[in-house]
Amino acid sequence: MDETLIATINKLQDALAPLGGSSQSPIDLPQITVVGSQSSGKSSVLENIVGRDFLPRGTGIVTRRPLVLQLINRRKKKDASSNNGNQQDDLTENLLDLKVDDSKESDKSKSSTKHQSEDNMEEWGEFLHLPDRKFYNFNDIRKEIVRETEKITGPNQGISDLPINLRIYSPYVLTLTLVDLPGLTKVPVGDQPQDIERQIKQMLLKYIKKPNAIILSVNAANQDLANSDGLKLAREVDPEGTRTIGVLTKVDLMDEGTDVIDILAGRVIPLRYGYIPVINRGQKDIENNKTIRDALQDEKQFFATHAAYSSKSQYCGTPYLAKKLNSILLHHIRQTLPDIKAKIEATLKKFQNELISLGPDSMDSSSSIVLSMITDFSNEFAGILDGEAKELSSNEL
Ligand code: GDP
Ligand code: NA
Ligand code: MG
Repeated sequence: MDETLIATINKLQDALAPLGGSSQSPIDLPQITVVGSQSSGKSSVLENIVGRDFLPRGTGIVTRRPLVLQLINRRKKKDASSNNGNQQDDLTENLLDLKVDDSKESDKSKSSTKHQSEDNMEEWGEFLHLPDRKFYNFNDIRKEIVRETEKITGPNQGISDLPINLRIYSPYVLTLTLVDLPGLTKVPVGDQPQDIERQIKQMLLKYIKKPNAIILSVNAANQDLANSDGLKLAREVDPEGTRTIGVLTKVDLMDEGTDVIDILAGRVIPLRYGYIPVINRGQKDIENNKTIRDALQDEKQFFATHAAYSSKSQYCGTPYLAKKLNSILLHHIRQTLPDIKAKIEATLKKFQNELISLGPDSMDSSSSIVLSMITDFSNEFAGILDGEAKELSSNEL
């Protein structure tokens, strides 16, 4: 049921994309939106959640268009029979289990640029703007993101609020929708406009101001949380911190003798969903082709053996973050379902009326396709809602 629910939200998001991109779609769908300063580690966090290298990342402004990333858990055949109740645990194990499949990748990546997964057909990506193509090679996904970014923004650091829509199908991900956004920055470089700070802020606000957005506020642990631009922006739209979750990156780069315990304990800037410390690969790790598998193992080792974190290491690190995000998203979708349903019905009615008033001749194929898709999803939603109503009493948060 849970996976169906999120998968339906994902399909609906695609169906609504032709109506002006997900930031402007008439229906606000629950999704997790990543905000933070430039180079705080936003793209790295997303990559670790997916468990694959596929995002452009590095110092400077790398993410220059919103990326709407739909992760879809596709269970392995041999897992298909195991029961639903254990699913989250299985998935978390899968995330830690990347070693099995990534070992191929690490051997090849050193000697060849044409590495990984051409022979691995269980994980792939699909772009909305290239509907007929499946990307089995995650390096090609990265290249396509760069190409598609530059197509709109040019190569010289320009930005655009036109989103890129990407789906990743994999047995190693939790079903989630995430939005990667350009980082907050102050001084224009390259082709950036003079008011770059304001423009990026506007772009981020457009996504996070929606009541259905869950805000993943990414902050570098080696910088003062009180100065966090991302958290400041999140508080503008979510003053009580009820839909903001904090991530602390670069815990490995903190000065010796300092830690994030006070932040985790809610003694600095409290958030209802709290903060999760993680460790991503550093720039040098990336240059040395350190695999995500190795990074996840090192991260686990770091928290398990660190004097400040070892007693609560099960609440630290990327697998815990992924699990928590999945359950927050489900909880949030459940809460907003009645509202989503009402809005879908209103949108449907509006489209029907517009089409009727235009007459049969002006009913072009794209609008009628959108209409029939919305009708389908509206019906699908009605079914899910009925099922959800029965399940509402069981709450896994
Ligand atoms: P974004 O601009 O917020 O998307 O940040 P990126 O994910 O592109 O990361 C910016 C830089 O910080 C890259 O060079 C990363 O390798 C590095 N980085 C990100 N997270 C960590 C971390 O947890 N530890 C270390 N040592 N470096 C990190
Ligand atoms: Na960056
Ligand atoms: Mg980025």
